[in-house]
Amino acid sequence: MRNKTVAIVGATGAVGREFIGCIERRGVPVKQLKLLASARSAGKTYDFRGETLVVEDTTPEAFEGVDIALFSAGSGISRQFAPIAVKAGAVVVDNSSAFRADPEIPLVVPEINAAAIKTHKGIVANPNCAAITTLVPLWPIHQVNPVKRLIVSTYQAASGGGAALMEELENATRAYLDGRPHEPKVVKYPYAFNLFSHNTAIDPETGYNDEETKVIKETRKIFGDETIAVSATCVRVPVLRAHSVSMTFECERPIAPEEVRAILANAPGVRLVDDREDNYFPMPKDASGQDDVLAGRIRRDLSDASGRSISMFVAADQLLKGAALNAVQIAELL
Ligand code: A2P
Repeated sequence: MRNKTVAIVGATGAVGREFIGCIERRGVPVKQLKLLASARSAGKTYDFRGETLVVEDTTPEAFEGVDIALFSAGSGISRQFAPIAVKAGAVVVDNSSAFRADPEIPLVVPEINAAAIKTHKGIVANPNCAAITTLVPLWPIHQVNPVKRLIVSTYQAASGGGAALMEELENATRAYLDGRPHEPKVVKYPYAFNLFSHNTAIDPETGYNDEETKVIKETRKIFGDETIAVSATCVRVPVLRAHSVSMTFECERPIAPEEVRAILANAPGVRLVDDREDNYFPMPKDASGQDDVLAGRIRRDLSDASGRSISMFVAADQLLKGAALNAVQIAELL
């Protein structure tokens, strides 16, 4: 990537700023980094490798000469500008949900389906953060003993709703502790010391919200297996930046917790955190700022007498592996 010009669309956002950090920290050898956001942010500056970069407005002309464009400014901006960027000669790695369901567009987690990138026609989609968190530790198990059924409950951080929701959590918490009233602006319900069903629209037919539907559909697309039965309950919790997931999965054949532990001990992108004696398991606080998905609480699902089901708990930084890091890994593969 030494001769590549990389643009970040949404550079001032929660994920956008992590793009800058990931590129710098991983020593990705880009020739030039362009920071794009809305006109409101034009002129803002960020440090990158000792240089000061100035944010520009996202216009069609801004993509001239760009080789790789990392988008994280919402689906509307992706739909509007990704085709323009592709026309200008860039490959787009899109963090929004705009193109994920399109069968022509690869949906990639490098530890799982890196080869899918080869089929891209200008756009590669970065999966939903709860899906990535669930699937990175599940994939190596699926390789050994195929997963037939998966039930997940998520505990999703404010960061998934962007910088504005993180600020809302901080402000609501401060107001609560000070005994002041706080009017929620970004989400509908009070966020401090509370939790609520994920703030996305509910499908009137299934009763599943958009986030849950994404987890279900993206699991099948990323694993390349339309037969996996998936159910999800997605919940927003008052945590700043790392998502946790409780999952129970049923494999084709019986599987022991020790086997799962052995598989995950050597799995790429996974760190085993499974200390029963100390009651020490994956926590969002420990996952924050980390590249790996933390996995633990690995135990037999006692509701399944056949011995084919395992329950476990995982946590991962939503802004890193759930978003910016995964996209930068895709850019590295490109
Ligand atoms: P801005 O800060 O100028 O509003 P988050 O995911 O944290 O909510 O961030 C959203 C990102 O999307 C921000 O960088 C934001 O820039 C950017 N964005 C929002 N609206 C536009 C727009 N109309 N054009 C380009 N970028 C936008």
